[in-house]
Amino acid sequence: MDDKPVDKEKILKELSEFHKLDYDYSDGRILGSMCTEAHPFAKEVYFKFLDTNLGDPGLFKGTKLIECEVIKSIGELLSIDNPYGHIVTGGTEANLMAIRAARNHARKYKGIIDGEIIVPESAHFSFKKAADMLNLKIVEAELDENYKTDVESVKKLISDKTVAIVAIAGTTELGLVDPIDEISKIALENNIYFHVDAAFGGFSIPFLRKIGFDLPVFDFSLPGVCSITVDPHKMGLAPIPAGGILFRKEEYLEVMAVDSPYLTVKTQSTIVGTRLGASSAATYAIMKYFGKEGYCNIIRNLMDNTIFFKEELEKLGYEVICEPELNIVAFNHPSIETNELAEKLGARGWKVSVAKCPVAIRIVLMNHIKLNHLKELLEDLKEIF
Ligand SMILES: Cc1ncc(COP(=O)(O)O)c(C=O)c1O
Repeated sequence: MDDKPVDKEKILKELSEFHKLDYDYSDGRILGSMCTEAHPFAKEVYFKFLDTNLGDPGLFKGTKLIECEVIKSIGELLSIDNPYGHIVTGGTEANLMAIRAARNHARKYKGIIDGEIIVPESAHFSFKKAADMLNLKIVEAELDENYKTDVESVKKLISDKTVAIVAIAGTTELGLVDPIDEISKIALENNIYFHVDAAFGGFSIPFLRKIGFDLPVFDFSLPGVCSITVDPHKMGLAPIPAGGILFRKEEYLEVMAVDSPYLTVKTQSTIVGTRLGASSAATYAIMKYFGKEGYCNIIRNLMDNTIFFKEELEKLGYEVICEPELNIVAFNHPSIETNELAEKLGARGWKVSVAKCPVAIRIVLMNHIKLNHLKELLEDLKEIF
């Protein structure tokens, strides 16, 4: 730290030098991120609420009401009238809360001490962090030939130590939706907590279904589903950080509650103490601003781009891994090794990411990637071919 105060102009200049090293969403070169540039209106609102702290909701009663409204609105999208939950920092924290709720619930009501969670191979690595922090063992369910959770594998892995089953609505690597209705039945039959990670798909599948896309039900209308992660800062176009965790019953929050003596509330169930109210306010604003109609238009456009890109890739001779269900296309060159192809694209300024299961280039067609960017990318892919 400097000994003396530094002039604002100088600080801003220094910061902008750092900022210049960052990629900018508007260049259309960030091709592997599940985040995107937040809408300017959401950013404006975010700034207004920067000082609010939802960790102490008695001091910020209005902002707390906003959070409740946001959870209710997201709940409506996920077929539940009275959800319980919070706006948190992202999918990782949301998944951690869900698994913590499941573990504590199983400990309290079933006496399970050394628990296990059944998580598909395709799950986001946040579950590894959750298992590590919560002292749980991960048992990995296999994928079927379509890269979706194999239901038989889940059944086989259930034991008297299972505290939760996880399935994904919009996998990180391929954007696929698991057979959540079948897994919900299994979870119910075995009286096991079932969490759906819809961090990516939660803000698009409901709208895609509305405009006629043939996607399966993944939400609270399935009786086995106990909690859902859905991230406003991914497909919701809210500013980072904004994750969402919704629970079917209040008791899942209650089993995580600890006393919070010096605050305006007696207990706290969230992992984080001091918590941004700005994320809730910005999410509230952007959900109102777009409405269902706005989100339907955005996702329709993204799916048009996805299908265009996939078809053009095939025309060039690239091998597309699977039919896209959401706005992700994964592909390989018939002979160039995947990491080498990623390097070649990187050398041309494209920031692609490589999926692990199966190994493939993975392009997430977020809102900052426009048709002209895709055409430029296809030109480069044609030259590389
Ligand atoms: C399905 C899924 N779950 C969870 C996460 C973690 O979200 P975050 O990076 O916001 O913590 C991601 C991130 O991409 C994801 O795709």
